[in-house]
Amino acid sequence: MPRRNIAEKYAEMTPGWRKPLWTFFHWLIQTKDRNHRIRFMNYGYIDQELSSSPIQLTEEDAVERFCVNLYHQNVSDINLQGKEVLEVGCGRGGGADYISRYMKPKTYVGLDLNKKVIKACNRTFTNPGLSFVQGCADDLPFEDEKFDAVVNVESSRCYPDMMGFLTEVKRVLKPGGHLLFSDMRYTEDHMVLKSQFEEAGFELLVEKNILPNVVEALEVDDVRRKNWIRKRIKSKFLLKTSEEFSGTVGSRRYQLFKDGKMGYWHFVLQKSVD
Ligand SMILES: C[S@@+](CC[C@H](N)C(=O)[O-])C[C@H]1O[C@@H](n2cnc3c(N)ncnc32)[C@H](O)[C@@H]1O
Repeated sequence: MPRRNIAEKYAEMTPGWRKPLWTFFHWLIQTKDRNHRIRFMNYGYIDQELSSSPIQLTEEDAVERFCVNLYHQNVSDINLQGKEVLEVGCGRGGGADYISRYMKPKTYVGLDLNKKVIKACNRTFTNPGLSFVQGCADDLPFEDEKFDAVVNVESSRCYPDMMGFLTEVKRVLKPGGHLLFSDMRYTEDHMVLKSQFEEAGFELLVEKNILPNVVEALEVDDVRRKNWIRKRIKSKFLLKTSEEFSGTVGSRRYQLFKDGKMGYWHFVLQKSVD
C-alpha cells in the first residue's frame, strides 16, 4: 500500500493493524497537544438550522463548533436528560464532554481502545456523572441492559467485527433503548450497513444522508484544520498522513466524498421492548 494511503485506507487494513494505527494517531495528536485542546477527531457537520441559530457554546467549545454539531445532530432526536448513556469510540472525549454538560444525562461513559487517551480524558473532563473507560467495541465491559442509549460517532467503520459491536450494543441496551449512530461508508456498502442493523435485530427509526452537511463542514473548517496540522507537523510523510486523516480539502478522503464514492449517514435505531 503506498504510504500516503495509510490514513485513507485504515479501515480496509487487516484488523491486527488497525489498533496499532489508532494508538499511533492518538500518540501523534497527544504529543502535539499536551494540554488536550483538540477534543474531537471527526469531520464535522453544518446545516441551515445550526447556521441560523448556532448552539450557544463557550469560547473554548466553539473552536471545534462543527465537530460539536456532528454530535448535536446525532443525539437531537432523543432526549438524554436523566438517562444512562454509553459512547463507544469516544476519541479525545469532546463529544462526551459536550453531551454531559449540555444534555444532562444522569451518567455518560466514554469508551475507547486507547489507554492513554482514556487517562487524558479522565484528567481533563471532570463533569459530574462523566467517566471514561478503556475497552473494545466488540467486547463491552458492562452488564446486560445497563444503558438507555449508546452513542457512536465516526468510529464504527474501522471495527474489525461490526456484527460483534452491534450484538454488544444490543446486549448492554435496556429494552426500548437507542443506538444513535453517524458514520461513513463506501456508497456500495450503505445497504450492507442497513442489513447489519436489521440482522442484529434493531428497528430503524431515523435514517438521514448527511454527506452534504459533512462536506460543507470540511470546507468551511479547512483553514483551521490545515493551519493546526501545518504549524505542528514538519515531516512530509506525517503531514500528508495527517491531512488525509483529517479529510482536508485536496485529500483522497475529501475527494471520495465529493465524487459520491463515499457517503455519510445518521441512523437512530431502537432495541425492541420485548
Ligand atoms: C475518527 S475517531 C472519532 C472519535 C470521536 N468519536 C470523535 O468524533 O471525535 C475514531 C475513534 O474510534 C476509536 N476506535 C477504533 N476502533 C475501536 C474499537 N474497536 N473499539 C473502540 N474504539 C475504537 C479510535 O481509537 C478513535 O478514537
